[in-house]
Amino acid sequence: MSFAPDFTGQTVVVSGAAIGFGRVIAESFQRLGARVHGCDVRVEDLRDLGRGTGIETEVVDLTDRQAGGRWIAAIEQQTGGPIHVLINNAGGVSGQSFTPIESVTDAAWDQVLEINLGAALSLCRASVPGMKAAGGGAIVNITSGAALKASLTGVQAYCAAKHALLGLTRQLAHELGPFGVRVNSVAPGFVQTNEATARQWASYSPDRQRQIVEGIALRRLGTPQDIANAAVFLASSQASFISGEILSVNGGH
Ligand SMILES: NC(=O)c1ccc[n+]([C@@H]2O[C@H](COP(=O)([O-])OP(=O)(O)OC[C@H]3O[C@@H](n4cnc5c(N)ncnc54)[C@H](O)[C@@H]3O)[C@@H](O)[C@H]2O)c1
Repeated sequence: MSFAPDFTGQTVVVSGAAIGFGRVIAESFQRLGARVHGCDVRVEDLRDLGRGTGIETEVVDLTDRQAGGRWIAAIEQQTGGPIHVLINNAGGVSGQSFTPIESVTDAAWDQVLEINLGAALSLCRASVPGMKAAGGGAIVNITSGAALKASLTGVQAYCAAKHALLGLTRQLAHELGPFGVRVNSVAPGFVQTNEATARQWASYSPDRQRQIVEGIALRRLGTPQDIANAAVFLASSQASFISGEILSVNGGH
């Protein structure tokens, strides 16, 4: 039996849609009938996503919280309705790798907090009034295994931001539940999605790589589609009584 919820007539917003999970999430909702809007800072990749797919794209730097709010307002004005589904996917380590805590700069810390946590705040803050007025909506925050334990990357700000994004998920689930708005999180395990994650994987010795795969019950790394499937499920009516939850998508640990 295949799982194909219908998002026809729904507006779905995906942050960080140019590559990786965000791109496959955007394409998945689009295939299921949604009107999809995606933003990113990767101009070329974003243009490529928009080409011929019907997915609406916009270059928005989400470290500017006002810009995130303006983007949501413009979509609502264009569609004449609320955002039905918000996927807070933009994030990552901003090109950083492990640095001992005594050498972490304020700028490096703030950058990672802004994109993983501040961006979600700005897009939630802008989308929620429309969702409340409509009497429903779904928000899915893409966190990480690093929302629950230490990060493989060693980047302290990333682990702290993802833990905080999980906290925001749980708090908003309670705040918005009375309005019919569900808020959940997908916590992916390690997936090679771009140059940075490919570099990260290549930096591990063959022994370490084998150890990571053998630590996964299903004995393989995940794919972006594995992650997108979980986001679609949590946004769909099949998850109508699920809120404030974190769904680990990591092949079993
Ligand atoms: N790949 C993994 O192994 C993995 C594991 C767990 C969680 N995650 C999380 O999943 C999400 C997607 O990760 P990914 O690996 O597909 O890609 P990624 O981590 O490289 O980045 C996600 C997207 O966010 C965009 N982005 C970055 N800064 C931005 C900004 N200022 N404004 C707008 N967009 C911006 C990037 O350009 C990219 O398209 C991220 O939140 C990441 O932290 C990834």
